[in-house]
Amino acid sequence: MEFKVDQYTQRLNQAIDALDLEGNPPELYDPIRYIMSLGGKRIRPILCLLAADLFEGNESQATLAALSIEVFHNFTLVHDDIMDEAPLRRGKKTVHEKWNRDIAILSGDVMFVKAYDLLLATNSPKLPVLIKLFNTTAVEVCEGQQLDMNFETTETVSIENYIRMIELKTSVLLACSLKMGALISDANEVDANHLYDFGKNLGIAFQIQDDLLDAYGDPTKFGKRVGGDIISNKKTYLLLTALEAASVSQKSKLLHLFKETNQELKISETKSLFEELGVPDKTERAIAQYYESALQSLEKISIAKEKKTPLRDLAKQIMDRTH
Ligand code: IPE
Ligand code: IPE
Ligand code: MG
Ligand code: MG
Ligand code: MG
Repeated sequence: MEFKVDQYTQRLNQAIDALDLEGNPPELYDPIRYIMSLGGKRIRPILCLLAADLFEGNESQATLAALSIEVFHNFTLVHDDIMDEAPLRRGKKTVHEKWNRDIAILSGDVMFVKAYDLLLATNSPKLPVLIKLFNTTAVEVCEGQQLDMNFETTETVSIENYIRMIELKTSVLLACSLKMGALISDANEVDANHLYDFGKNLGIAFQIQDDLLDAYGDPTKFGKRVGGDIISNKKTYLLLTALEAASVSQKSKLLHLFKETNQELKISETKSLFEELGVPDKTERAIAQYYESALQSLEKISIAKEKKTPLRDLAKQIMDRTH
């Protein structure tokens, strides 16, 4: 039977609606309920729940861990949108646009603390290990974010350094979500680490695809400003692949476009160079490669193949996404 992602999303959305995120002053709490209620794909908490199911873990503990990760993820989005000066998130105004920057910083801070409260509420005997994993991951996400911003003004970034950056800013959190579900369910360390590696490679594929959608997504579905990465001179997989394949004159055109102030022109000219250089195809191939590596790690887990179907199906659905 095909795995039904919607059932998990609904279950999580109900649990999110039931969270106590009220408080005073309202300027601090309204943005938290706003961002949490805007939907989103809920990929990380679903990964956590599926990992827990794989090892037949306690459902209420797994749900609390899953919620903790989703609240943390939403906190990173609120702060990321400040850093990226992003106007749109999930098809709606970003928190710093709807309120202001200070409010976005502070309500993000509260979310970070709320994430710990949720983890604490699991009351799991594994709590010290879970907190250590959570802390390592949170610091890595910040390191990745700093590298991402450093790269905006670095002319040459190797693909290898780019991959390391996205591992930190994005993929460790997917990996952590899976490993938490496994640890809560008393999976052995080897299997928990295979799940972590599955998440790591899936996360790399996921971020490269996020880069691709940022330039080529359908604006009516994507929910974020299409072309935002090009405007900010982000060293995305697309741009680095273009620079690698470019002739001297194409490279100088690309670098020149970094300074272009007409945003629409900058986006369209950069994209036409991407297309001349076969960048979309090359990017799709890289995504497929990391996706395959992810599936290989999944195969290594010492559990019957059929039981892994939901994780395999979810990975496929993530790869087929439009937002
Ligand atoms: C956005 O994550 C941030 C990235 C790591 C690309 P998602 O694409 O999972 O965002 P939502 O939660 O579904 O909105
Ligand atoms: C986001 O990377 C990573 C984190 C939020 C930590 P992006 O900046 O590419 O994410 P989007 O595209 O804004 O969702
Ligand atoms: Mg960013
Ligand atoms: Mg961003
Ligand atoms: Mg992005």
